[in-house]
Amino acid sequence: MHIDVVHGPNLNLLGLREPAIYGTKTLADINAALVALGRELGATVTTFQSNHEGALLDHLAERAGDVDAFILNPAGYTHTSVALRDALLAVRKPFVEVHLSNTDAREPFRRTSLVADIALGRIQGLGPVGYELALRGLISRLQTGDLNKDKG
Ligand code: DQA
Repeated sequence: MHIDVVHGPNLNLLGLREPAIYGTKTLADINAALVALGRELGATVTTFQSNHEGALLDHLAERAGDVDAFILNPAGYTHTSVALRDALLAVRKPFVEVHLSNTDAREPFRRTSLVADIALGRIQGLGPVGYELALRGLISRLQTGDLNKDKG
């Protein structure tokens, strides 16, 4: 089982960036914990971050053939990127949308996600643990083969 974790813009700045909202863990800390958890649960976890919309789209298209699913924090592109939504529809891989912060409790523009309705599931507001829950959830759904996004 192979799950690729994709982080969008500015998440390379975790640890320094608005720590009151995003905490003090770095992206390297988060990625290392996910790789270790994947190993424990029998899954290969790879990670990718970019600040560039096109690089994220290229990455999804390039990796889709090799992976079973994605965990995706689209960061600012969550709220703006039709192209990201189109790429996810094109590659047809299950993905869980993760946000460190509770985007529904922040500025109104963060309440819109252009990918929420096509995600297998969504986790937000739980900090880095949210990624770990997404990994556990995805592995469990891949194991049962139940990838119906309308089901809990
Ligand atoms: C974020 C929330 C987004 O609104 C914001 O633009 C981010 C991070 C989060 O993880 O909480 O960059 O996706």
